[in-house]
Amino acid sequence: MVSEEFEHRPVMAREVIAHLVEVPEGTVVDCTIGGAGHSRLLLAARPDLRVLGIDRDLIAVAAARAALAEFGERASVVHAGFADLAETVRRETEGDIVGILFDLGVSSPQLDKRERGFSYWDQAPLDMRMDSSQGITAADVLNTYDESDLTSIISSYGEERFASRIAREVIARRPLVTTGDLVDAIKAAIPAPARRKGGHPARRTFQAIRMEVNRELQQLDSGLDESVHLLAPRGRVLVLAYHSLEDRMVKQRFNNWAGRGPKLGRPDLPVAPLEAPLVRLVTRKPERPSEIEVEENPRASSALLRVAERLA
Ligand SMILES: C[S@@+](CC[C@H](N)C(=O)[O-])C[C@H]1O[C@@H](n2cnc3c(N)ncnc32)[C@H](O)[C@@H]1O
Repeated sequence: MVSEEFEHRPVMAREVIAHLVEVPEGTVVDCTIGGAGHSRLLLAARPDLRVLGIDRDLIAVAAARAALAEFGERASVVHAGFADLAETVRRETEGDIVGILFDLGVSSPQLDKRERGFSYWDQAPLDMRMDSSQGITAADVLNTYDESDLTSIISSYGEERFASRIAREVIARRPLVTTGDLVDAIKAAIPAPARRKGGHPARRTFQAIRMEVNRELQQLDSGLDESVHLLAPRGRVLVLAYHSLEDRMVKQRFNNWAGRGPKLGRPDLPVAPLEAPLVRLVTRKPERPSEIEVEENPRASSALLRVAERLA
């Protein structure tokens, strides 16, 4: 069992495993191993597979190692960011890579550990780093970015319509020290009638600052780029996204690899067209969690699963 301190329910586990049991023999890279929920199920379902787990969070790495100990040499877990996927895979594995899984965002234990500063329900230092050993903190972002950068981050990553008011309020209250300071600034910036609708008023801004602190879209961009070239024929890449910007990036990249889409070959786009398709799309539209799963685990509600398979 996953240790009690690291309780994270794997999202769309049935669907993820159904797609991964189809791959040939070899190694599956779980780029976001977390509590190893998906990987445990996969190793149990397919005794001929190995798993390389990656996580940028040291607490997750320790939890995943413990959770996978029973599988012995079939599983290994390293501390790394998936932006450097190719280098990590080259260093840590031999033989064919037959699956690559990204289950994006934060884990339940990260959200629940008060002192890590991810939660708007607690008073904690403004940290929000998944890798506590490096990088900038939420306090650095909130106390040093200029108003236009803060507005654009809160608006695009948080899809928050009051982004400019929030940015102005943050700047007026500097220095912000705790998550409570940020919640107070957000509440002061959002007009009272809007504050009462649509869940906690700080949810969107916290998500935006977290995505900036951890450079989540930049990591995904780079990890995806490297993933397809690592896969053996009939190997699969799976992405579970929880944010429309992430899913849009995955969809565009998959379409490009598949040689599909009206935008291919346009000189005004940065992505060059492919000479021959690299993948076939296993999912044309993203798969969604069942109603029962969402009822049992509300964190799954925004999940979107896309799968592509490498061609020979
Ligand atoms: C949603 S959880 C994964 C849960 C896992 N699938 C399970 O079943 O237990 C996401 C995990 O990915 C990690 N993570 C997020 N971005 C990462 C990145 N760029 N590189 C490596 N790990 C990352 C987080 O630290 C977190 O532990």
